[in-house]
Amino acid sequence: MSKPRVLVARKTFDDVVDRLRSHFEVEANGSDDGWSQDELIRRLQGKTGVYIAGGDKIDARLLDACPELKIVSTMAVGYNNIDVAACTARGVIVTNAPDVLTETTADFGFALMMATARRITESEHFLRRGEWKQWAVTMFAGADIHGATLGVLGMGRIGAAIARRGHLGFGMPVLYHNRSRLPADQEAPLGAQWVEKDELLRRADHLIIVVPYSASSHHLIGQRELRLMKKTATLTNIARGGVVDDAALAVELQAGTIAAAGLDVFEGEPTVHPALLDCENVVLTPHIASATIATRRAMSNLAVDNLIAALTGGVPPTALNPEVLKR
Ligand code: DGY
Repeated sequence: MSKPRVLVARKTFDDVVDRLRSHFEVEANGSDDGWSQDELIRRLQGKTGVYIAGGDKIDARLLDACPELKIVSTMAVGYNNIDVAACTARGVIVTNAPDVLTETTADFGFALMMATARRITESEHFLRRGEWKQWAVTMFAGADIHGATLGVLGMGRIGAAIARRGHLGFGMPVLYHNRSRLPADQEAPLGAQWVEKDELLRRADHLIIVVPYSASSHHLIGQRELRLMKKTATLTNIARGGVVDDAALAVELQAGTIAAAGLDVFEGEPTVHPALLDCENVVLTPHIASATIATRRAMSNLAVDNLIAALTGGVPPTALNPEVLKR
């Protein structure tokens, strides 16, 4: 019997592809460049599984053009690039890669927040430009993290891991907003208190955004929200581009409405709004919150676990639409 055919749409670790090759006939993209939508459709002909990353789009047009597809497995936790409803309607399983990146992403979120509050990249640029001539009492004086109020917008797994770091490691009072409030026994170890979104914006010294992107979280933070924040506050976005209105953020950063921002994700990335590039008081990183070798390997391997299970009669460990499996 011929083996199922699988497409790996993004370059990944060789041994991860080898794991797939031991079960399937595999065609793998050896490049970091994604394929165009038409090229992806062309290469998916006759394939029953596809391994993708966050930049690869799976929509109804693609699904209709690839009727043999049974599983879409993303190595990311975020899946706003996949039309899950369209997959479910066509009986296509969708899997993502949660949990394995939680602590790594929380480490990075905290690091970005600290770099933003303590003006680390801004001061490094100053030093590299040769402008450091003398010590000065307020030179690059930023805001404390320890003891300051941490605001978490989106208290999922990553939000909770950040709250835990703030509460236990830095003595930060933690406020959060989420559509649903956590049970008291989950709030207590995080020292976290649920508040309305506007109250969170008004009271946080350091706001970190960790909500998934969807139509309802598009521009959740725009001019109105930024103007509710303290002038001394920082905002860190490790969620998805589009949750923050980047154009409005650049205007408010220039105006001093808030002190600074740390951004790992951008609307329309890898393009970054040019006005953000002109702001000194913003730390910019290229969507690397989950980027440690160990974690990227774990994410990739989980995507492969899902493909192997789905195409060999097993139960994929992290299906987003498990109802498809019951059909
Ligand atoms: C994720 O897994 O969603 C991260 O943002 C990396 O893409």
